[in-house]
Amino acid sequence: MSLSRRELLKTSIGTCLALSQIKAKVFASALSSKGLKALYKDNFLLGTMLKPEAYLRETPEFTKLVNTEFNAIVADNAFKWMNIHPTDEHWDWSYADEFVKFGERNNMYNVGHVLVWHSQNPIGLFQGEGSDLKSGDVMLAKLEEHITTIVTRYKGRINAWDVVNEALDGNGWVNNEWYRTIGEDYVAKAFFAAHQADPEAVLLYNDYNLSSPSRRDVLVDYLSKAKNSGVPIHAVGMQGHFSLDFPNLDDFEESIEAFAEQGVRVHISELDVDVLPGLGPDQFPDYAAELDPYRDGLSSELEAKLAQRYSEIFKVLIKHQDKIDRVNLWGTTDGESWKNDFPIEGRVNYPLLFDRKLEPKAAYRAVAELKSTAI
Ligand code: G3I
Repeated sequence: MSLSRRELLKTSIGTCLALSQIKAKVFASALSSKGLKALYKDNFLLGTMLKPEAYLRETPEFTKLVNTEFNAIVADNAFKWMNIHPTDEHWDWSYADEFVKFGERNNMYNVGHVLVWHSQNPIGLFQGEGSDLKSGDVMLAKLEEHITTIVTRYKGRINAWDVVNEALDGNGWVNNEWYRTIGEDYVAKAFFAAHQADPEAVLLYNDYNLSSPSRRDVLVDYLSKAKNSGVPIHAVGMQGHFSLDFPNLDDFEESIEAFAEQGVRVHISELDVDVLPGLGPDQFPDYAAELDPYRDGLSSELEAKLAQRYSEIFKVLIKHQDKIDRVNLWGTTDGESWKNDFPIEGRVNYPLLFDRKLEPKAAYRAVAELKSTAI
């Protein structure tokens, strides 16, 4: 008995649909057991930022999620100067030690964040006599001792360090206390000290808004000078605090290319995508209901926009995978993001790949689908 053309067509459309449904099911089930890190294993490491709850008071659900999806971790605040070295004589290793052990137990690429920054330092770190700052020599000795002590303690156990954070902007050196005491040399000295303490560790210069052409140019200029003077900067950490329409992804791409041309690797170190209304230049960061429109949940349009944005960002990252070693989200679930409290405290934001109940979002599926043939 022969089939009519119409019946044949119907049967083959049916077969195709059934096959694609089976494929989608196989993909979904492989994804839920192997996670994003398996999909991206040939592209780059996929990381997340951990808060202390994750490694001090582990819950099996959260640890399982982190282990399934990610193969790199960075700590939120554990290594920041004010926490790890609150006074000259006192070191508090309690958080950093547990973070590192968590990474080792779970076979993670461990990232130490951050050795030198203008923010989250102990009160009085720079304070000299009266209203003066301490001298450059004193601050340089402190900086070197701080770096040497931390990096030596974790030698061979931390794979990469954010050595210096946010030292440059679109005009040149940020006029922070490190710069005012030591001068621009503080950056190079920090890298030399870290390299001496652990010659195997990957050393990063980490900064935000690096898609901006003026900030890009300033950093490229510095990288080129640093290279000529043998400063051991191995990678640039592009933080990646994005929103739905900022930055322009052409600019983002140009920056990835420009840094790689200077002979350094690129890490996307703190990726998240803010969906809430931004503040205008004359708006004070006070809470207002109209600035917090999604308290009861994200609309489906916005959910789709966020997924689309993540998909576009990851397309760029995949395109430049030869230059990129790690893509690190700044947190796992929306509930733990700093974006709920910045620039206004107490809003409800949705910047990450998992929701407040640890469930994958549309953005997660969009990132996974780009690699649906990889499992
Ligand atoms: O621990 C106190 C708590 O006791 C208090 O009740 C609460 C009240 O606000 O504050 C808590 O401290 C907060 C701390 O995070 C711990 O959660 C600080 O206020 C808050 O300022 C601090 O924010 C951190 C922020 O850096 C400070 O600049 C964020 O967790 C951290 O994610 C964020 O990370 C930075 C990177 O280091 C560098 N790049 C930018 C990125 C985002 O700002």
